[in-house]
Amino acid sequence: MLNAKNISVHYGRQRILFDVGFRAEAGALTAIVGPNGSGKSTLLKAITGEITYDGAVNLNGRDINGRKPWELAAMRAVLPQATPLAFPFTVAEVVRLGLTSGVSAADDGLVPQALQRVGLASYGTRFYQELSGGEQQRVQLARVLAQVWEPIAHCVPRWLFLDEPVSSLDIGHQLLVMQIARDFADAGGGVVAVMHDLNLTAMFSDQVALISDGVIIAQDAPEHVLTDDHLSHAYRCHLRVNAIPPAGTYLLPHLAQLAS
Ligand SMILES: Nc1ncnc2c1ncn2[C@@H]1O[C@H](COP(=O)(O)OP(=O)(O)OP(=O)(O)O)[C@@H](O)[C@H]1O
Ligand SMILES: [Mg+2]
Repeated sequence: MLNAKNISVHYGRQRILFDVGFRAEAGALTAIVGPNGSGKSTLLKAITGEITYDGAVNLNGRDINGRKPWELAAMRAVLPQATPLAFPFTVAEVVRLGLTSGVSAADDGLVPQALQRVGLASYGTRFYQELSGGEQQRVQLARVLAQVWEPIAHCVPRWLFLDEPVSSLDIGHQLLVMQIARDFADAGGGVVAVMHDLNLTAMFSDQVALISDGVIIAQDAPEHVLTDDHLSHAYRCHLRVNAIPPAGTYLLPHLAQLAS
């Protein structure tokens, strides 16, 4: 269980998050959605202990504050929104970084397995900087997967924190990556994913937190959060949500128009 209470974050004198409460269960995929600049990445950085915050974050029954970096790295892996690399690493070297920061027994065998999982089995010796944007994004996902390869270790769930994991991907690879996240959750791990694609969010997530101007305005099952009213309010445009039987997913936007 991840339980974040009264999270506030300031950048300089500007307040970005306002007493946010956020919960996520192991064995579930929890999405964070909301407009650009609403505070999604900031919330993800706070709950992973990557920035200072006011409030408390409890992960697997203990406050993350004061935990050693290696303890956190053993329990959770973080895919940032952008991962620039200044050095000419090969793909395999980038994925291996996940092994050295995690406790996957520094098992080099995981590198090809993780690359295979993201559809890049033959890319190990390629230079990361020479890959396309979508390929680089999947290499970074392979890195975090290698870090927490087993969703449960010693009876304790591990966690994937993903900031826009499908933002550069074509529709086929979006489905692949969302299925990887889904499988991790179904195997008992916890997944928290910042998302912009509301259809994929509806299809794959168990819980959705909708954030607007640094405040979570709803957190619940997708059908209760992805509603006309909530979305139109948060995104400041008129949106209609369609349920499509029998899949029970949604097609957005429908009759979308900018609010006047
Ligand atoms: N390091 C920083 N210093 C100052 N302000 C920042 C910093 N990082 C983010 N901000 C500001 O905090 C606000 C929230 O940023 P954040 O990155 O959390 O948004 P987001 O919801 O992830 O948006 P996007 O969908 O564009 O990724 C924005 O107004 C942004 O300009
Ligand atoms: Mg962001």
